[in-house]
Amino acid sequence: MRRIGILTSGGDAPGMNAAIRAAVRHALGKGLEVIGIRRGYAGLLAGEMRALTRAEVANIIQRGGTVLGTSRCEEFLDAKGRARAAAVLQGAGIEGLIVVGGEGTFHGATLLAAEQGVKVAGVPGTIDNDVYGTDFTIGFDTAINTALEAIDRIRDTAASHERLFLVEVMGRTSGDIALGVGVAGGAEDVLIPEIPTDLIALGHELRQSWQRGKRSSIIVVAESGEQGRVFRIADEIRELTGLEPRVCVLGHIQRGGTPTARDRILASRLGAAAVDLLLDGGGTMAGEVCGKVARVPLKDAWEKRRDVRVDLLAVARDLA
Ligand code: F6P
Repeated sequence: MRRIGILTSGGDAPGMNAAIRAAVRHALGKGLEVIGIRRGYAGLLAGEMRALTRAEVANIIQRGGTVLGTSRCEEFLDAKGRARAAAVLQGAGIEGLIVVGGEGTFHGATLLAAEQGVKVAGVPGTIDNDVYGTDFTIGFDTAINTALEAIDRIRDTAASHERLFLVEVMGRTSGDIALGVGVAGGAEDVLIPEIPTDLIALGHELRQSWQRGKRSSIIVVAESGEQGRVFRIADEIRELTGLEPRVCVLGHIQRGGTPTARDRILASRLGAAAVDLLLDGGGTMAGEVCGKVARVPLKDAWEKRRDVRVDLLAVARDLA
């Protein structure tokens, strides 16, 4: 293998740049040429690419977002689109591809490999922490710290005004962000997509705790693929409890910003490891399990589900 490509796809995540830097520099050290593909699969289809040098990935380790740009590409969902992508790669002499992204990215990459024989290696980059085969995804740590900072501020207002606040965080199918900030932020409850919400029981709990003398509460609600669903929940809680909840949707604030040290270290490790996976034939994702780099079949990374962190939910409720 002499020339490889790298792209970032799906939602941007802090630390993606550190992963790009690591992959590029590790690959150059192995004598490979690295082509940066812009705007994810959309840019690949459009042939938007150019060679990356060591210098070009200097001073990006600390930057949020992705210098390569990203997209969610409809055309890549279609086999014809993937065939075209393989032709573009072949035309550019790219013999292996590193994809940095989440479930959707790996789904597309698995099909590209199966249908077109393209060698692909994955790096888990998404704030959602919903990728099987890695304890943490790149961007998750930064996102929960960003959300936590916001929740600490909201707590000041909740305490001063003696209010109930519902704070919506991201997480399409995974409640990991909500659980992380819920426990670290001392939330009264955490509503996650993996476990159906029993609003009647929650209303009952809230009434009881406020009768016992509680004067402020924060409930963390995972967006669950429907940004703003927290407003409906707030209406129901108002009806059930007579409390006047305030709502805060943190939204995309959680996606940007300077990556934490933890995300930069994870990204540096996994970005470099992905190059070795490609050289070993691809078809795998570089994850981190129990502090060690792990090789996970790319198919498992998006097809298998991670265990729901019921232990964290229990901690949050126990300490509320
Ligand atoms: O996958 C990351 C994520 O931030 C999810 O938590 C969220 O549901 C989704 O992306 C939002 O996507 P977009 O930025 O395309 O609206």
